[in-house]
Amino acid sequence: MKPSVLLSAVDLHKTFKISTHTRSTRVLTALDHVSLQLATGETLGIAGESGCGKSTLAKVMAGLLAPDSGNVLYKGTNLNQIGKEDWKVFRRKTQMIFQDPFSSLNPRMRVGDSMAEPLKIAGLSVHQQRSELGRIMTAVGLPTDVADRFPDEFSGGQRQRIGIARALAAAPDILIADEPVSSLDISIQAQIINILLQMKTEFSLSMMIVSHNLLVLRHICDRIIIMYLGAVVESGPASEVFSRCRHPYTEALIAAIPGFQTSTEAKNKLLQDDLPSALSIPFGCRFHPRCRHAIERCRQEVPESEEHAHGHSAACHLSSHLYG
Ligand SMILES: Nc1ncnc2c1ncn2[C@@H]1O[C@H](COP(=O)(O)OP(=O)(O)OP(=O)(O)O)[C@@H](O)[C@H]1O
Ligand SMILES: [Mg+2]
Repeated sequence: MKPSVLLSAVDLHKTFKISTHTRSTRVLTALDHVSLQLATGETLGIAGESGCGKSTLAKVMAGLLAPDSGNVLYKGTNLNQIGKEDWKVFRRKTQMIFQDPFSSLNPRMRVGDSMAEPLKIAGLSVHQQRSELGRIMTAVGLPTDVADRFPDEFSGGQRQRIGIARALAAAPDILIADEPVSSLDISIQAQIINILLQMKTEFSLSMMIVSHNLLVLRHICDRIIIMYLGAVVESGPASEVFSRCRHPYTEALIAAIPGFQTSTEAKNKLLQDDLPSALSIPFGCRFHPRCRHAIERCRQEVPESEEHAHGHSAACHLSSHLYG
């Protein structure tokens, strides 16, 4: 049976107005007509260099930021067309986890109270709150005696477990994690990733994970979306994107993974220049100034996203020529 679409983005466009030192205002395009779908039970990875719009996309999908245009659909319903009550349900059912969970925890509130907040809002009795919180804390590997302590008493890894527990207390069906492990020690990163995977099964979640670490995404995701300067340039099953990528940008990201490819050929694929500013996105294919294969057409014409294999698409004029 085809999995149903739980959350989708349709043609999302998001800009920010930036004041320059000359006091004029410029428009920065953070999301440029992005569409994607998250299926029920799926783990979807979002990758790309710093500044390519991953966090903006995550926030728009979680309802924390309004797009300029385009729509987010939750279970097929357009969030633009729902009332206050349904909006509350969506906000509860779609929880976000941040890189630094400290910023989302009240420093003056005992972590037990922070974690129990969603349970309180859901109307559970104190006894029910305690029992449900105990279950969640055990699931994420937190000893129950931490509940009486304050956020600053915890290490990064413990704080992230608290952040995950707090998100789970809302009984979500979608978890959107923005760089959930990038601020943590390598040894702790694997623990948190494993917890997320376990929670996905135990709490029947669908997940969207933003990370610039492609190896993490390959390990945990069913599908991966590669973003470049606010646009999706490639998307497909995680294993396919890794073994048979169809965009020179994806190829460059893979070649840059430490120890992943060490040949001279791989070195040739590495990105040479800095990422252009999102204030002036290059004309034609936005990747062309950094692409070693670029031809005149790439400078003139925006490439459409084209499906090359089942569910595997890329927006590159030369994809078939380069990758068969
Ligand atoms: N509130 C804001 N005001 C102005 N510009 C913003 C704002 N938020 C994001 N941007 C800009 O939008 C673009 C996309 O930013 P975003 O944070 O989504 O990127 P990212 O892919 O998450 O980057 P990183 O990997 O560094 O977290 C960047 O150019 C960024 O500077
Ligand atoms: Mg970000």
